[in-house]
Amino acid sequence: MSANLKSSILNHRVIAVYGLGNVGGPIAAAWLRGGATVIGVDISKKLLANIQKGKSHEKEPFVSEAFSNGLRNKKFSVTSDGISASKKSNIKIVAVPVGLQNKSIDLRALVSVAKDISAGLKKGDAVLISPSLPPGTCEKVILPILEKRSRLKGERDFHLIYNPERIFEGRALKDIEENYPAIVSGLGKKSLAFGKELLAIISKKGVLVLSSIANAEAEKLFEGVYRDVNIALANELADFCEKSGVNYWEARKGANSQPFCHLHYPGTGVGGLCIPVYPRFVIDAAKEMGMSLKMIESARKINDFMPKKCVADALTLFDKHKINPKGKKIAVLGLGFRGEVVDSRLSPTYTVVKEFIAKGCNVQVHDPYIFEDGDLPKSVKLSSNLNEVIKNASMIFISSDHKLYSKLNSKSFSVAKKPLLIFDGRNILDKNNFKNSSFLTIGLR
Ligand SMILES: NC(=O)c1ccc[n+]([C@@H]2O[C@H](COP(=O)([O-])OP(=O)(O)OC[C@H]3O[C@@H](n4cnc5c(N)ncnc54)[C@H](O)[C@@H]3O)[C@@H](O)[C@H]2O)c1
Repeated sequence: MSANLKSSILNHRVIAVYGLGNVGGPIAAAWLRGGATVIGVDISKKLLANIQKGKSHEKEPFVSEAFSNGLRNKKFSVTSDGISASKKSNIKIVAVPVGLQNKSIDLRALVSVAKDISAGLKKGDAVLISPSLPPGTCEKVILPILEKRSRLKGERDFHLIYNPERIFEGRALKDIEENYPAIVSGLGKKSLAFGKELLAIISKKGVLVLSSIANAEAEKLFEGVYRDVNIALANELADFCEKSGVNYWEARKGANSQPFCHLHYPGTGVGGLCIPVYPRFVIDAAKEMGMSLKMIESARKINDFMPKKCVADALTLFDKHKINPKGKKIAVLGLGFRGEVVDSRLSPTYTVVKEFIAKGCNVQVHDPYIFEDGDLPKSVKLSSNLNEVIKNASMIFISSDHKLYSKLNSKSFSVAKKPLLIFDGRNILDKNNFKNSSFLTIGLR
C-alpha cells in the first residue's frame, strides 16, 4: 500500500503548501526532494519573488536549491492564489502562523487558508495542519470551515490530519527529513492511516502515531511549555547564583553530569513565535475551564521579566563607575530572538532597547543577519557593521548569542569609550579576553 501512495505522489498527486516561511518553506522543499509536485502558496509577493530568484531561506541549508531545481524541472510553482492551488492539488499542507495579537490568540491566517482550501476541496483530498494550535482548534475551528463551503464531510469525504511541525530554525529541512519522527494524528481511522503512509515517505525517523488530534495538539504545546518552564528555572537559579556568589555555569555543568538533570541556559529573555506563545495557549485553555496553571504562569512571568532584569543589572556598572547613563551610547548586540536566527519576532532585545531608552541612553543595535526592522523605535539604528555600532559606545550589552560574538576580544572593542562596560546576557564572551573592562555576566558575579 505504501508503494502505491508513494508512486501516486511521484506520478500524479499534487501537494499544495500554504505558507512558505520558516516552517512551510522547508516542508515544501522536503516534498520536492522526495520527488513530489508542489504548489507553494504565500501571500507575501516579496517572498514569492525571492523564491523565483533563488534567494529565499538563506539560513536554511538546501531549501532554496530545492526550489530552484523544482522551478527548473516544472515540479514546483508558486502562487498567492490559495483557491486555485486548492483546486489543482490533492494534498494541502498548512503552515501559516498562529500567534498572539495583543495577547490574544490570532487565528486569522489559519482561518483564511481554511476558507481558500474549502473552496477547492474535492473528495479524496487530504488536509494536513502543521502549526502549533490552541487545544481543540483543528476539530472545532478548522473542520467546520473545511466542511461548510465544500459541502463535504471530514473523514467520510476527505482526510484531516494534524501533524505538528517540530523544527529548529537553521536546520529545519534536516529536522523534517532525518532528525525527528513525524507526529501524526487524524480525524478518524482513514485519515490517520493516510497520514501515516504519507509522512513516512519523507520522514526517515518514521512516524509516531497519537490516537487523537487533541493529544497531538497538546503534545506540541507541552514541548514549548517544557522549554519555557525549564528556561525560567535556569533564570531563577542564575539569579540565586548572582546573589550568593555561586558560578551558575560551573554548577550547571556539574549538575548536568547526572543523567536526570538537564539545566538549561539562562539569558536575556525568551523570544520567537514558539516558546513564549505556546504556554499562553495552554494557560488560556485552562482559564476557560476555571483553572490556573501556577507553574506555567510563573515561568512566563520570570522569562518576560528577564530583559528588564538584565538591563537593571547592566546599569549597576554605570553606578559602580559613578557615570550617569543619560545620553550615553549603548551598543546592543543581537536582535535575533536567539543566536544564528534571522527572526526577531518577540525578541527580548526590543524590551532591552526600550529599557535603555527609558534611562535616557542612545541605543544602536547590531545584528549580523537582520538588516531591516520596522519594530525598533525610530531613534534606534540597526546595523550589521559591528565597528559602527561599537564606536564611542559606553556599554556593550550582549542580547543574542550569535556565534560571531564568541570571537570578540578587547581589541574588537578598541573604538568604544573607556572605561568600557560590558554586560554579557548570554555568557558568550571569553572573560579572559577582557581583563581591563568592567564586566558582568548573567549567572555569575
Ligand atoms: N518557526 C519555528 O521554529 C516553528 C517551529 C515549529 C512550529 N512552528 C509553527 O509554524 C507556524 C508557522 O511558523 P513560521 O515560523 O513558518 O512562520 P513564518 O512567518 O516564517 O511563515 C509563515 C508564512 O505564511 C504566510 N502567510 C500568512 N498568511 C497567509 C495566508 N493567508 N495564505 C498564505 N500564506 C500566508 C506568510 O507570508 C509567511 O511567509 C507557527 O505558527 C508555529 O506554530 C514554528
